[in-house]
Amino acid sequence: MKNFYITSPIYYVNDSPHIGHAYTNLACDVLARYKRLMGYNVKFLTGTDEHGQKIEKAALAKNIDPQKFTDEVSIRFRNLAQIMNISNDDFIRTSEDRHKKAVTAFWEKLKANNHIYLSKYCGWYSVRDEAFFQEAELIDGKAPTGAPVEWIEESSYFFNLSKWQDKLLEFYEQNPEFIYPQSRKNEIINFVKSGLTDLSISRTSFKWGIKVPGDEQHVIYVWLDALTNYISALGYPDLNSEDMKNFWPCDAHVVGKDITRFHAIYWPAFLMAADLPLPKQIIAHGWWTNEGQKISKSLGNVIDPLSLIEQYGLDQTRYFMMKEIMFGSDGNFSAESMVRRINSELANTIGNLAQRTLTMLQKFFEGKIPNIKKEELDKDLVKLLDVTIKNYHQEIDKLNFSGALEIVIELGFAANKFIDDKAPWNLAKTDMEELAKVIYVLLEANRVIAYLLQIFMPDSANKLLDQLLVEKRNFSDINHSLVAGTVLPAPQVIFPRYS
Ligand code: MSP
Repeated sequence: MKNFYITSPIYYVNDSPHIGHAYTNLACDVLARYKRLMGYNVKFLTGTDEHGQKIEKAALAKNIDPQKFTDEVSIRFRNLAQIMNISNDDFIRTSEDRHKKAVTAFWEKLKANNHIYLSKYCGWYSVRDEAFFQEAELIDGKAPTGAPVEWIEESSYFFNLSKWQDKLLEFYEQNPEFIYPQSRKNEIINFVKSGLTDLSISRTSFKWGIKVPGDEQHVIYVWLDALTNYISALGYPDLNSEDMKNFWPCDAHVVGKDITRFHAIYWPAFLMAADLPLPKQIIAHGWWTNEGQKISKSLGNVIDPLSLIEQYGLDQTRYFMMKEIMFGSDGNFSAESMVRRINSELANTIGNLAQRTLTMLQKFFEGKIPNIKKEELDKDLVKLLDVTIKNYHQEIDKLNFSGALEIVIELGFAANKFIDDKAPWNLAKTDMEELAKVIYVLLEANRVIAYLLQIFMPDSANKLLDQLLVEKRNFSDINHSLVAGTVLPAPQVIFPRYS
């Protein structure tokens, strides 16, 4: 069995989860489910990033001990994953012992390989981004993200990042698929070409973090700490652990575009320095705006995924998020578009097709799948089923999730039109043999749609497959047609209209 390791970023626990966190997790989930249905042995990791100045500040502001504070907030991320039907296999917290042990060992390895030295950091720091900036990078005295910066001067350990510039460029050259999408890749390459400076990897002005081994005045820089989660969850430093052997190097680190730099520059440099193989791909997605506006706490327009789910339904929300945004680009949340998609694409197209087909099966054949000759089925629709499956896989391979969904919806449109054209209610009076063929091929269209929607809307797709009494649900089973003579249960509405 082939292995596939996919990770989400680990989320800062300074605040409650919002649509951005939900989206990153959902994108990973869709890919993880796809690979599982393709027969891979998948490990999907998510978790929380709990150290650093930002979290310490948030805990202090609430007058709570940081560990207690992170315990409380981390649970909300874990719950969100569960509520959203995210199929993660593990959930890592950076305050866990397994992680601290791995980070300490990783540091010691970098040190032993002579890539760490002690000096002094003088420069700008953004607590919100947990990132260092050079004077030239500031825009109007702020970080490029708009976050405030503060001047810091402190004793610090450094990682010799500048030494890795050529090796990184060589690696990008040899692995053209390493950074997705292309636009992000160009950004990263330009940044590296413009020259890398050594990276400060420890802080002394606060305490909430993992201590530098042998120098307890220093805590390890939160990004070095956080990135290591991808291997601490596999049992690092034990290179012979089953998980390390099966799942490292990672197949896909899925991240938002804002944190590509940490994953595509720092992380590979750290890994090379620690003699570990590099991940195969960094997949960067775009950002959501809310009704056209940047999402921010100060604007008060943060979208709570839980209220979306409550208002519109879980699978409807999952569908909207994956359909609305062209993966890799930015996208906008609007209530109007959400309702339009739920009603026209889900209720009127997919839902209506299932309802019409299954109701006619009950009405004209008492629920029994008719016996037909396959070669006599409508050739165009049969061909469309094959083409749909083929194109869907192609789009998913390109990480074009919205494109894959569009292909499924188009099949729904075509099948509904087929019903209108054939007018089965008339055939029922004149030609039962033709009617049997029409209903059979429609059942097949529903079956294919249900298979293909599993990764996006697992509950709803499974309900449809249940109604069709389909047992085997892997993609390798998609060519097993429905069996004549089987009696299907009376249909139940799967995609209600939103009103
Ligand atoms: N803790 C770091 C990641 C460390 S990974 C080793 C971090 N955490 S975060 O909580 O700030 O962000 C987590 C993810 O949420 C990122 O992938 C980020 O891009 C995503 N989003 C945050 N706001 C977003 C939107 N408005 N839209 C889409 N995704 C956004 O960064």
